[in-house]
Amino acid sequence: MKSIASVPGKVILFGEHFVVYGIKAILCAIDKRITVTSQFLDEPKIRIKSELGNAEIDLGVLSSLNSISTRFMKPFFYIVKETLKEFNVNKGIEIILKSDIPAGIGLGSSSAACVAVTASVAGLFDRKSKEQVLKRSIESERIIFKDASGADSSVSTFGGLMSYDKNGFEKIDSKNNFSFIIANSNQVHNTREVVLKVSEFKNKNEKLFAEMCKQEEGLVREALLRLKENDLNKLGSLISENQELLEKINVSTDRLDLLIKEASKTSYGAKITGAGGGGCIICLVDESNAMATLENLKKISDCFIAKIDFGGLIYCNPS
Ligand code: PMV
Repeated sequence: MKSIASVPGKVILFGEHFVVYGIKAILCAIDKRITVTSQFLDEPKIRIKSELGNAEIDLGVLSSLNSISTRFMKPFFYIVKETLKEFNVNKGIEIILKSDIPAGIGLGSSSAACVAVTASVAGLFDRKSKEQVLKRSIESERIIFKDASGADSSVSTFGGLMSYDKNGFEKIDSKNNFSFIIANSNQVHNTREVVLKVSEFKNKNEKLFAEMCKQEEGLVREALLRLKENDLNKLGSLISENQELLEKINVSTDRLDLLIKEASKTSYGAKITGAGGGGCIICLVDESNAMATLENLKKISDCFIAKIDFGGLIYCNPS
């Protein structure tokens, strides 16, 4: 028997960095997915295969996760360990990950992988609710990133749009029909380092930063209204205003600025998504300007179109 689960990646529409200081962010699931297939093995082994690498351990080693050297695989082994414990079973399992979410550019691929592995492995025994899957996948992420907010996993699990702050997340009831052109700067970034840089900026510019937080809060408040109206012109301007704030806290780069400048010629608005310092930008588009934006950005970057994903976690095999 195979258990298959598929989970979307995400973009941040508003509020990255400021969310760290208590401001609401708005996230959106995108139709780039990771699909995980699990099945029992006859041997007492846990085997993980992915485009980013493979790992295999004996069942006995599951109890000592610290000895596992491949860092990004640890959450997956944790998920297997907890699931086997929960169902009181000691059996080998093979897990295969296939992803069309580009990794390492802030599109939520690692969180989506944790959600999909949790759902797929649990599905070998009993299908879990989305809430239960989310809980375990956040626990697993915190094995390697103890401050993980859970925002990415939440939007990947439930799909659609959501607002998020330290008090939790709220689904945004939306039937929006916009899309994004996502352009990769091909500059490697490190979220932790960029977050630290922003905290240094804040410490040196307390008053200015407090003012910026207020501005971001205003942008998010207005964006929530405009999302209800599906007013893309206004949403696009808010996105561009958010980009200006991100530039002021120095998380943009020359390369990202160039992509934004090109994107602004045809899209409703464009900004960095995620930590910045590299990674990618999102450009708000619909059918009237998607192709023009894509063609233009293609000349200078790796880019693709992404739609909103409303499905979130999906089990792909019959129950
Ligand atoms: O790089 P990403 O997409 O994981 O986004 C990080 C978002 C930040 O606001 C910069 C950090 C955070 O933990 O919220």
